[in-house]
Amino acid sequence: MPSTRLVIFGATGDLTRRFLVPALYRLHQARLLEPDLQIVIYARRPLTLEVYLDGLESALREAGKDLGAWSEFARRFVAYVQGGLDAEGVRQLRQWVDADAVFYLALPPGLFAEAAEHLAAAGLHEEHTGHRRLVIEKPFGQDLQSARQLQQRVSRYWREEQVFRIDHYLGKETVQNILVFRFANLLLEALWNRNYVDYVQITAAEAAGVEDRSGYYDQAGALRDMVQNHLMQLFTLTALEPPASLDADALRSEKVKVLQSVRPIPQNAVGAFAVRGQYTRGRVGDREVPGYLEEPGVSPHSTTETYAAIKLYVDNWRWQGVPFYLRTGKRLAADRSEIAVHFKSAPIHLFRQTPLDRLEPNCLVFEMKPAEAMALVAQAKTIGLEMRARTIVLRACYREVDEEGFEAYETLLLSILQGDRTYFLRFDEVELAWEVLDPVLRAWQTQNVPMAFYSAGSEGPREAERILDSPTHRWRPLQSEQMGMTCG
Ligand code: BG6
Repeated sequence: MPSTRLVIFGATGDLTRRFLVPALYRLHQARLLEPDLQIVIYARRPLTLEVYLDGLESALREAGKDLGAWSEFARRFVAYVQGGLDAEGVRQLRQWVDADAVFYLALPPGLFAEAAEHLAAAGLHEEHTGHRRLVIEKPFGQDLQSARQLQQRVSRYWREEQVFRIDHYLGKETVQNILVFRFANLLLEALWNRNYVDYVQITAAEAAGVEDRSGYYDQAGALRDMVQNHLMQLFTLTALEPPASLDADALRSEKVKVLQSVRPIPQNAVGAFAVRGQYTRGRVGDREVPGYLEEPGVSPHSTTETYAAIKLYVDNWRWQGVPFYLRTGKRLAADRSEIAVHFKSAPIHLFRQTPLDRLEPNCLVFEMKPAEAMALVAQAKTIGLEMRARTIVLRACYREVDEEGFEAYETLLLSILQGDRTYFLRFDEVELAWEVLDPVLRAWQTQNVPMAFYSAGSEGPREAERILDSPTHRWRPLQSEQMGMTCG
């Protein structure tokens, strides 16, 4: 039987070395790869397969991997094809692809369209002898217009069913767990709507700065890098209606409906819905760190945001009037990713004239980083004679100490090889997410929307409070007393 070929473009880049190969190796170790899966490398650099594999082996060793299965794994690599992104180079791949094949574009985003076109010109998209899949990394476009252009070029040759658009957040177990958590627990569903929920807050905060990616990041910024994809995915999974099944299209259609219901952000009032910030010099832990403008490779006049906070309303029956606050940033006080659902206050009549006349409302927190847990913030009576309450946190770890999970790229690669598109983006999702953010992008580019500065290692710019709807809405601290509690 002819074997399945995984062809990796950009095989000498960071993504391949740091994520794809370690993920493939782990899947191989776990015996989850089909025995007949073979890997073909397509790259510009003139290397032999042997030298290339030596490099991979050292990278895995440096990453502390157990190399016991290395030689068996290395046999899956059948060719190192050297070539550029041109018709002649890509045509060489024809001799390596005769049956099922997956083309993984681990390339800079500006090259996705060209690669897709050259593959098609070589006839490699045609499925006469087996399936042909095309994997495209994020970002899918730089804005609404460029996303549409990219799609036009790709879809001229590739059918939607052949295209796997990656958002690695969808490969995370904790993100997939949002669906299980929401739809396998009856008691939540009754409360999961505007009658009980006051507001929802979605955070993806990072303590790291721009690191060695300034070339990419300075062109992208936080809105494109994190909000358009990862945060919008967390948002749609939190807000969607129960899908009819876990079938790829059923799930993705529900996400699309959420995006279609988002109230458009008025172009002339972006300041009331979105805040952008940039970090200045500060302290992270016990380290002095430079400001964004002092980072190597960043222009000293850069107006790229390293922090973005945005407010969205979903004008449908479930969510009308409930703000969803999304925020992300680099060089913040801590690594913290979570979805916090803040409930309305309980009626206080019963406790009038007691010290309990101001009860903290309930909050359900779905923690993804640093721990993987669910926490319910509730009120209980304080021990003593007086009628006082204290906040208690009922917290359950999602993962047990000895429970090993799979990393995002492991899960996603396996899904691609199995042809399961559930956790990949359909184009209408990508397009609608750009559509929602387009007014913000344009306002930040063309108008003089002020940049809010924040010190590295802080909670982010104070100006983020501007978009909160009510004095009772608050950004959750990034370093809460929960920090340091790990699950496993
Ligand atoms: C990537 C962004 O997509 O996600 C990075 O380009 C960011 O800037 C990263 O650091 C965060 O991913 P994770 O899995 O560490 O939350």
